[in-house]
Amino acid sequence: MFSNGANGSTTGPLKGVRVLDWTIWQFGPVSSAMMGDMGADVIKIESLDGDSGRGLWRASNLTMDLGEGRNAYFETCNRNKRGIALNLKTEEGLQVLYKLVEGADVFVQNFRKGVAERLGAGYETLHEINPMLVYGSANGYGPDGPDAHLPSFDGCGQARSGLMMSATAPDAEYPTRVTQGVSDQIGAIMLCQGVLAALVARHVQGIGQKVETSHLSANMWLQGMGMTMSLLNGGRDFRSYDREAPTNPLANLYKCKDGRCIQLMHLQPDRFWEPFMKVLGLDEYIDDPRFSDMAPRAENAREIVKILDARFATRNADEWDSAFRSSGTDFIYAMVQSIKELEHDPQVIANDYITEFDHPVIGKVKMCNHPNIYSETPSGIWREAPELGQHTEEILIDELNYNWDDIQELREAGAIL
Ligand SMILES: CC(C)(COP(=O)(O)OP(=O)(O)OC[C@H]1O[C@@H](n2cnc3c(N)ncnc32)[C@H](O)[C@@H]1OP(=O)(O)O)[C@@H](O)C(=O)NCCC(=O)NCCS
Repeated sequence: MFSNGANGSTTGPLKGVRVLDWTIWQFGPVSSAMMGDMGADVIKIESLDGDSGRGLWRASNLTMDLGEGRNAYFETCNRNKRGIALNLKTEEGLQVLYKLVEGADVFVQNFRKGVAERLGAGYETLHEINPMLVYGSANGYGPDGPDAHLPSFDGCGQARSGLMMSATAPDAEYPTRVTQGVSDQIGAIMLCQGVLAALVARHVQGIGQKVETSHLSANMWLQGMGMTMSLLNGGRDFRSYDREAPTNPLANLYKCKDGRCIQLMHLQPDRFWEPFMKVLGLDEYIDDPRFSDMAPRAENAREIVKILDARFATRNADEWDSAFRSSGTDFIYAMVQSIKELEHDPQVIANDYITEFDHPVIGKVKMCNHPNIYSETPSGIWREAPELGQHTEEILIDELNYNWDDIQELREAGAIL
């Protein structure tokens, strides 16, 4: 099924928007890949050595080599883009960039503070060339402050923002680091969101501007609700989940007979207490004063968790799921799944959250789809990640009016591949 416009002609809410994508690794590239999913014409600008992300060979237990010179990491972060290789350390290369900027709506980059300015691709310079340009910029720790210039990768964002501690049980010896570059991913989402807001401002207020985000700010915002509530509480720490002694035992994790876990999420536990205890066959505790409403239940959480643990352990997760579904009450819970199960999840299938893409080199593949569904302008996956410099000539000749002699000269000057 190639729904949502996959492999077909480009649609999407950003159709007609041109994005210059001077980004590396995951943080920057994913933000512009999202714009590509939304139909923008994204041109990835790489140094003649290419984005270092092309060289990632392993992620956890997964190898990145897909054969035919294709790399899973690079394909994921750079779908829906064309590619141009440009040496911005040559005057000729910079002039090509400036011509591209004249016709662009958006420019994004995620190099260390100062790199863009050093090369002549900073905001002030590009804004002068195209005052309506939206310039998206990302780094590790924000544009100001003593560490603004420091390099940063995913784990740095998770560590410094408090995210690791938020994901760590109170008695764990080490903090937990969530896999898969989630700190880069939320950074990318925020960068994309910032660019989109600036595009709206350009449309409504007639101005171009610079939008800056960072690992630190994006990951703080990911925890923004808890962080602000902590601050409103005089800056107290927001304690991470304690499964054995939760504030609300009906919003807790329980293990079933087959080892699978169920996450209960009843934020109005008193509304669900009676039907819940009935479906579990624990009627004798319904009126027990230790558990009769939220406050004593929090006081006696360890006891009720032990009772619930013992009960959940008598049946497999699917059996509990069936019991909940047929009970007549809309219990609020979810089975804990691993990402390998999602491909078979009927909700994922029904909503095309994992979609198929006919990759011209490696054949039919499945990919995580763009997360939003647009009723009139479907997003999609139309294009595989570019090879290094794949579209340099096409873009220079067809879109910037260079001729073959110019191409030869640029090559001799070491400005293009
Ligand atoms: C990712 C990161 C750690 C990489 O650090 P790095 O490899 O030392 O790279 P830098 O950003 O410092 O600089 C890149 C270099 O490539 C050069 N470069 C990049 N594109 C170029 C091009 N098209 N032509 C010529 N040179 C180019 C830059 O000029 C710079 O070299 P210089 O220092 O000699 O000027 C760093 O860029 C960073 O912290 N970025 C912000 C946070 C981030 O996005 N991290 C990645 C998360 S996935």
